[in-house]
Parts: sequence; structure tokens; C-alpha cells
Amino acid sequence: MRSPKKLIAGNWKMNGSLEFNSTLMHSLLGGDLHANACDVAVCAPSVYLAQIHALLLSAGSSPIHLGAQDISAHEKGAYTGEISVSMLKDFGVAYAIVGHSERRQFHHESDQLVAIKAERALSAGITPIVCVGETQQERGVGLTEVIVKRQLAAVIHLVGHCITEIVVAYEPVWAIGTGLTATPEQAQSVHAVLRAQLRAAAGDGAQKIRILYGGSMNAANAKSLLSQPDIDGGLIGGAALKAADFLAIVASA
Ligand code: 13P
Repeated sequence: MRSPKKLIAGNWKMNGSLEFNSTLMHSLLGGDLHANACDVAVCAPSVYLAQIHALLLSAGSSPIHLGAQDISAHEKGAYTGEISVSMLKDFGVAYAIVGHSERRQFHHESDQLVAIKAERALSAGITPIVCVGETQQERGVGLTEVIVKRQLAAVIHLVGHCITEIVVAYEPVWAIGTGLTATPEQAQSVHAVLRAQLRAAAGDGAQKIRILYGGSMNAANAKSLLSQPDIDGGLIGGAALKAADFLAIVASA
């Protein structure tokens, strides 16, 4: 029987301000985070990681973990604008999203680059949240499985020896920020495909790898998605910017 602790991670994307973040974090820290029932993370824009880190430190033993939205594939050096894993470690970052569809789409990140980023995160003790997902058009022509398996295969190829240390997030591109959510059955069927692929690489270890769902998850639909056998948490965009909604999703987990 599988029972990995669920993970609810908020991806704030390019949203927030010093004042907004402070209000949101105080609401989250003052809310019921069901500390032992699931893991909770917020992935903030990199310029605000120091702010959130300080807020979490001053709150004492907070159940909220800090996450980054991307990392550099390089260790250090002449890479203007990039942020290294060791810099993120300085601010207590525990998770890093890699391969979000918005980075694949707008920054032309390849499967190979995403895999290198996952490897880089693991080398620093940061858990990569590896995003995979198909577009509407790909789903329309029956390519969903092919696409998500190809994206995950690149990561397994590079970090197969420690694949149980990653988190996977299935985010159908057509469900992101659109209000269209995959039905629990649609999501579960892709999660089962990903689980089987992980099992082929890691054997029984695949049972403990968390596969999150992301794409218009909200307070109303979280419970039915999170009750699917292979859905081990959520990667939340828009609803992570509203404390009450995010806390309700955490409560569903
Ligand atoms: P939404 O929840 O806003 O659809 O975003 C999902 C997402 O992309 C999380 O990474």
C-alpha cells in the first residue's frame, strides 16, 4: 500500500510584492497547515526568497518549506542573470521547480536542459519538482503518453540512480491558468503511466516518489483529484495567491 506524505506546493509565478508576500505569508502561517498530514511549500520569485526565508525564520518552526521556480544548470560563473543552487541553499530553499511548461514554452528549455537542472538541484540537496505535460493539440492527436514519457525519460536517463529523490508534477498545459481542469480520471490515468515508467527505473522505490497534479487545482476540485491513487499532491498556481484557497487545498490533502 502506497502512502507517501502528500506535498502541496504553491507556484506564485511572476506575482507578488514585498507587501503582498508579507500579508499572504502571515495568513498562511496563522492558518491551519495540518503540519503533520502533508508537506507544504511556496515557490516564490527569486528576488523574494530572502524575504520569505526571513519571515519563516522569525515564525520559528514553520511547516512551510521554501521553493524556487527555476535554477541555473551551471554551478557558478559568467552566466548573467542566472541563480545557482548554492545561492538558493543560502536562503533555505528546499525545492526547485524545473521544466515548468512556461519555461519550456517561453524560454525554449529542452528535455535535456531540464534533466541537467534536475541533476544540479539534486547535487545541492534541493528536491527538484520536475514538470511534464502535454499541450491541447498533443492531447487532441493522442500524444499525451508519448510526450510525458519522453519528458520524464530524459530525467531518468540522467539521474536514474537517485530518481526516488525527485518529485514529478503532471501539468497538462491546457489546464494551466485556464480554469479547465483535467478530470480526476484523466489525471489519474497519466499519473499511472508516469508511475509505471518510474517503476521500470526504480522498482518498488517508485512507490514513494510523489507525483503532483497541477493545472487549475482549486479549493473546490482538490479533494477529488487528491483522492486518486497515484496523485500525491498538487502544484498550485492562481489559488496559491489566495491564503484561504491555498489553506483549503492543504486541508483537502
Ligand atoms: P494554475 O493553478 O494557475 O492553473 O497554474 C498551475 C501551474 O502552472 C502551477 O505550476
